[in-house]
Amino acid sequence: MQLYTERIGSYLRFVRCFGYPQGLRAYFEASPILRPGLRVLDVGCGTGIVTLALRAALSKRGLPPRTLQGFDLTPAMLEAFRDTLRAQAIDDIEVRQADVLQLESLPSPWREYDLIVSASMLEYVPRDRFVDALRGIRARLHENGRFVLFITRRNILMQPLIARWWDANIYTSTELEDAFRHAGFQNITFGRFPLRFLHLAVWGHIVEARNSPS
Ligand SMILES: C[S@@+](CC[C@H](N)C(=O)[O-])C[C@H]1O[C@@H](n2cnc3c(N)ncnc32)[C@H](O)[C@@H]1O
Repeated sequence: MQLYTERIGSYLRFVRCFGYPQGLRAYFEASPILRPGLRVLDVGCGTGIVTLALRAALSKRGLPPRTLQGFDLTPAMLEAFRDTLRAQAIDDIEVRQADVLQLESLPSPWREYDLIVSASMLEYVPRDRFVDALRGIRARLHENGRFVLFITRRNILMQPLIARWWDANIYTSTELEDAFRHAGFQNITFGRFPLRFLHLAVWGHIVEARNSPS
């Protein structure tokens, strides 16, 4: 994806200036969804901000995961992620190149996840393929698995800042709920960023959805 090949540096400066990596980590540190032995997938992992925030939260809470895997479309983002993994001597995260709209290219054991996370990525799927992308993600979940999505809000501030500048599709909570239901998700709720990161709520929704009603 050309946008992210050319703009990795600006993306990282942009998100760091809003405390995005720290906000994601604080959300996971407080989340009741985490437990030991999780099989986790980060969809559109990019340079690894979400995977690393989740790994740090799991480690802080003494909840070692069973697997941590991620994929992204852009080789340059994955290369930056692999550089970080090497630099920090992290060897328990596996990454691959793949398109969220063509998940059949993932290795066959990459399924039955307890937790799938995705942040700031589904904005880049064409609006008319959004439900297809959600369906594909749902199909990779264990029957009791959950999907946590961080995605830009459609509001007056994000329209110029994200939708236009980053050429992204953005959604209201009603549109998201509708799309998740069409994709077959159950128990769709909206999470919150912890108090000291409440400013991130101006940017994004946190959708927490279960694969099945149980
Ligand atoms: C804004 S970055 C977010 C990266 C990371 N999730 C984060 O929160 O920092 C968007 C990422 O989505 C990836 N992406 C866009 N379209 C994709 C697709 N169809 N399949 C997989 N990844 C995609 C881009 O390559 C880019 O790395």
